[in-house]
Amino acid sequence: MATDSWAQAVDEQEAAAESIGNLQIKEKPEENGTTANAPDSSSAVAKSQGAGEKKETDEDDKDDKAAQSLLNKLIRSNLVNNPNQVEVLQKDPNSPLYSVKSFEELRLKPQLLQGVYGMGFNRPSKIQETALPMMLAEPPQNLIAQSQSGTGKTAAFVLAMLSHVDPNYNYPQCLCVSPTYELALQTGKVIEQMGKHYPEVKLVYAIRGNKLQRGIKLQEQIVIGTPGTMLDWCTKLKFIDPKKIKVFVLDEADVMIATQGHQDQSIRIQRMLPKSCQMLLFSATFEETVWNFAQRIVPDPNIIKLKREEETLDNIKQYFVMCYSKEEKFQALCNIYGAITIAQAMIFCHTRKTAGWLAGELSREGHQVALLSGEMQVEQRAAVIERFRDGKEKVLVTTNVCARGIDVEQVSVVINFDLPVDKDGNPDKETYLHRIGRTGRFGKRGLAINMVDGQMSMNILKRIQEHFNKNIEQLDTDDLDEIEKIAS
Ligand SMILES: Nc1ncnc2c1ncn2[C@@H]1O[C@H](COP(=O)(O)OP(=O)(O)OP(=O)(O)O)[C@@H](O)[C@H]1O
Ligand SMILES: [Mg+2]
Repeated sequence: MATDSWAQAVDEQEAAAESIGNLQIKEKPEENGTTANAPDSSSAVAKSQGAGEKKETDEDDKDDKAAQSLLNKLIRSNLVNNPNQVEVLQKDPNSPLYSVKSFEELRLKPQLLQGVYGMGFNRPSKIQETALPMMLAEPPQNLIAQSQSGTGKTAAFVLAMLSHVDPNYNYPQCLCVSPTYELALQTGKVIEQMGKHYPEVKLVYAIRGNKLQRGIKLQEQIVIGTPGTMLDWCTKLKFIDPKKIKVFVLDEADVMIATQGHQDQSIRIQRMLPKSCQMLLFSATFEETVWNFAQRIVPDPNIIKLKREEETLDNIKQYFVMCYSKEEKFQALCNIYGAITIAQAMIFCHTRKTAGWLAGELSREGHQVALLSGEMQVEQRAAVIERFRDGKEKVLVTTNVCARGIDVEQVSVVINFDLPVDKDGNPDKETYLHRIGRTGRFGKRGLAINMVDGQMSMNILKRIQEHFNKNIEQLDTDDLDEIEKIAS
């Protein structure tokens, strides 16, 4: 089997109902339980038609899950992940998690306060504390907000949507658009959890694979989805009456309105909404031109913007490793794995082909590897990310499809097997920040390792360093003790 068709072969294999665990060679492949095509939920914010239930698991699998969950807890508690650490950060005015107010002072509905505390949040982060009063003000105000990765933007806009919804009306009132399928599912999950004590509010997923009967009108007040399906539901299929939408959220807004991103679909949805509709744009990055464009399309926005030097997070330590070929990078990666214990890692490749190749090689070396790239079936993508979240695979090899928004707190290491470049080969600084931001969530420590494969790639790394004015050190054997503490 040629290596280029490896990813495709995996797809075919999995489509034939084999477990994703085929990629593991250390552990016995597991059956069932993770092949659901959408999030499971016991929460009261009912998910609707497309968000199918997980299959029943058998007893063995339940045991296994309990053991796994315990293990995950143990793993997590080894990360610098204790509540004290977060509390310290939330009292430090220089931290993006700093807050002076409590959630009570943000005047949330009691049901939502219950939801927030139920998720284990004690205090708001800086973005939550700043953005919520703007979003909840009457009359509604538009907002373009930037805040570092992992600082709680999701909760901020989810609370805004849940606050504005009128549960007495059974039609869509809030639309939330995410760039990827996985991110839409993840955000939906947060809506379900936050709204757990607000059962009148319902949620539906406008994502590929969620086929509704033609001619129906949605009853759910909140619609979360990806741009293509959302647009179809507003136009061709008319499941949603855009004129009734009160809140429109664009998560990862810069990529949603960038010409290289989903601009067309996002703008077309936006044009159908009433003038009074509140527009909320969130991201960790807004390149200057995109920032200007955002201000042109959003009338009279409130603005929360970071200074360049605030964009990077000090809790994520960045290194590079010098190599001269793909094979050397692979060897270096194996050496790192040989030298330190890594809780969970995400490895980013530039192309699907490299991702497929690398996953295959790592798997042959005995690692439990998951592969996620854009050409896979959505059900498989959902299953892969869920297994990774559950810690069933410790390594996720992926492409930029997972660069943004994905929140898996056990991820202690991000590896750029290929540095992020745009289609002209220039450094993609925004993607760099998003990728490394898959670790170091909400104040935890994280490690980013960049594999450099020659002079050209060294120049790209230098330009990234200069842009953020951040030193990226060469990884040295002397650093191993230090990085082990972060990674394990
Ligand atoms: N106030 C809070 N207290 C404790 N944990 C929180 C709080 N707000 C958010 N979190 C947690 O922080 C993590 C990161 O949040 P979230 O995914 O919203 O980050 P983000 O700002 O959207 O990052 P990205 O730019 O990567 O999308 C989540 O696991 C979330 O549960
Ligand atoms: Mg996010």
